[in-house]
Amino acid sequence: MTTLPHSSTTPAPQPAPPLSRIIQGGMGVAISNWVLAQSVSRAGQLGVVSGTGIDNLLVRRLQDGDPGGHVRRALGHFPDQEWAGQAVTDYYLEGGRTPGQPYKRVPLPTLTNHRVAWRLAILGSFVEVFLAREGHASPVGLNLLTKLQLHTMPAMYGAMLAGVDTVIMGAGIPREVPGALDAFAQGQPYTFRVDVKGDGPATAPLTLDPADYGFGGVSLPRPKFYPIISSHVLAGVLTRKATGSIQGFVIEGPTAGGHNAPPRGQTTYDASGQPVYGERDLADLAEMRKIGLPFWLAGGSGSPEALRRALDEGAAGIQVGTLFAYCAESGLRPETRDRTLAAVREGQASVYTDPLASPTGFPFKVVQLPGTLSEPEVYAARTRVCDIGYLREFYWQSEGKTGLRCAAEPVADYVRKGGAVEDTIGRKCLCNALMADAGQAQIQKGGEVEQPLITSGDDLVKLAGWKSGYSAGDVIRYLLGEGTPQS
Ligand SMILES: Cc1cc2nc3c(=O)[nH]c(=O)nc-3n(C[C@H](O)[C@H](O)[C@H](O)COP(=O)(O)O)c2cc1C
Repeated sequence: MTTLPHSSTTPAPQPAPPLSRIIQGGMGVAISNWVLAQSVSRAGQLGVVSGTGIDNLLVRRLQDGDPGGHVRRALGHFPDQEWAGQAVTDYYLEGGRTPGQPYKRVPLPTLTNHRVAWRLAILGSFVEVFLAREGHASPVGLNLLTKLQLHTMPAMYGAMLAGVDTVIMGAGIPREVPGALDAFAQGQPYTFRVDVKGDGPATAPLTLDPADYGFGGVSLPRPKFYPIISSHVLAGVLTRKATGSIQGFVIEGPTAGGHNAPPRGQTTYDASGQPVYGERDLADLAEMRKIGLPFWLAGGSGSPEALRRALDEGAAGIQVGTLFAYCAESGLRPETRDRTLAAVREGQASVYTDPLASPTGFPFKVVQLPGTLSEPEVYAARTRVCDIGYLREFYWQSEGKTGLRCAAEPVADYVRKGGAVEDTIGRKCLCNALMADAGQAQIQKGGEVEQPLITSGDDLVKLAGWKSGYSAGDVIRYLLGEGTPQS
């Protein structure tokens, strides 16, 4: 084993800097990529890379010829060179794929067979954090979705190998994550309990042991952990019942981009079918202050006024997604970004809180945009396929074995696996759509190209007056009250 890269190729971490007022929200897949996170961190705020889909992202970037050589440069610093070299041998295509050539996939992991996918997730997450940290000494964070139970541990571990400062996780209750961070920081294994549906125990064990990957006993800095929550009640529960310590919270309201927590209590819907949120869905900040940990407010907080209000309420600052999602450095495919911004300027883009689209069952914010899966015709024309599989859930098969199913997979497969047919209605394959958003759409059998589905918060309309090609630095200056990047 060689020296770990964060101690040799990037400047050593400085003494704990003051907490940043702005967290650039993690945005999967690859919207908050290393380029965006690096530029936010260089500007003195907390840049966050998304670790969602990071294994497929790695292999697709390699198959696209690794423009600029960044992925291979980062892989060159991975502590196990044999392993990193294997990924290049297996996936790198000089000059990229030939036109019409589908991407080679990461093998779908299962509860008992996930070694190849986990290795690629460790490598992918290492690469993303390494690149985001390159050439400066400011902290960089990692965002993951708790619901992706089969995928979070290797992404976390790869990010730790690259010296990630903070792990931020929402979309579920990340009770077990602090304990996992403690264990991995000591080179020790950690066992998650994954949820399993159907007849049998409600959970099953899933272990990541650094020793299985050549890092047994290797000490790493333990990142800070900020759960993303929507209620102060959950903040209290996590503070008391998590498996280790928590260093802060992101409190996200229902206007935020991406997934939203469902409304509390019985859900009601407005005339267009969106879930209705009320006062009870807003966290009580007086209760948050009592907990005594720093917190950041997210969801429609992208303005200097909201930042001031947050600070007045005792928050450490704000977490902002939507404004960063459309800046020049983001990983959103430039054509998709320009088309969305043009629609915003023409007053043609609206954001719909879709209660069905996400196979997770959480409401998901969808930009209504022609040519994307937000349109019923585009959705209906897509052949259902589940070939990336991040949003699959475990269920009990016979003889104590677990299987995996996704409500957006082919309906007959889902039903054969014990899923209810009504759960498949309106479900969209976010895995393939979000890969398409990042410019890495799969070409399926018969040449069908996967189409995008854009997510944004209600703040999207604000961008109507912003100049195109605005930068992450422009967003930060705007939030700090130093002027709007006018068109
Ligand atoms: C395009 C996009 C993708 C997002 N993806 C994720 C994600 O993968 N994980 C997550 O925790 N939050 C995600 N979010 C939420 C952001 O991290 C952030 O909390 C939120 O955008 C803040 O609200 P705002 O959109 O009003 O600024 C996403 C937001 C956007 C706009």
